Amino acid sequence: MSDKKKIAIFASGNGSNFEAIARACQQDRINAEVVICVCDHPGAYVTERAKRLEIPVLELRPKSYPSKADYEKVILEALKKHEVEFIVLAGYMRIIGDVLLNEYTNKIVNIHPSLLPAFPGVDAIGQALNYGVKVFGVTVHFVDHTLDGGKIISQAAIPYDGNDREELEAMVHAREHVLYISTLRSLLN
Ligand code: GAR
Repeated sequence: MSDKKKIAIFASGNGSNFEAIARACQQDRINAEVVICVCDHPGAYVTERAKRLEIPVLELRPKSYPSKADYEKVILEALKKHEVEFIVLAGYMRIIGDVLLNEYTNKIVNIHPSLLPAFPGVDAIGQALNYGVKVFGVTVHFVDHTLDGGKIISQAAIPYDGNDREELEAMVHAREHVLYISTLRSLLN
């Protein structure tokens, strides 16, 4: 029997981290199998990436549910069906609620495009650029009730003294893929 951990990846949009992690799993660079992609924006590009990689996708519209708990119960049911042991948030722009946190305590991780605790929340790269920092970065952390505030697992710094957002974003994303894969490898292998 395979000792690979069954993981779910949650994403809301483009899905470049999703694809980098899913490929690393498929190439045995992480001892895990991505058994489901959960997306809260039906039709987002990440769903195409998942289909191409033959990973089942659960697409949901959170607003169609009376509460966050009802929404998360549907996700939990799917996670149980796929025997998911660990959850990876990769550009999932939503706060995780009690239903999932209670079931997956210390088993949910997130990546954020800043050196936390600086610049939590949306558009961290824009926040850091506006602030005028010269060292940007990325953080992988455990997920708790707070916004981007759980225990830090790993970080990488990105010195950058320019003002070209596109160039910076490309640097941040490239660094994210490397950091997320190496962090998941040590957490899951
Ligand atoms: C990534 O930069 C990730 O760090 C960020 O969303 C982007 C998703 O990119 N997440 C957050 O800001 C979470 N607070 P991707 O869809 O190409 O992986």
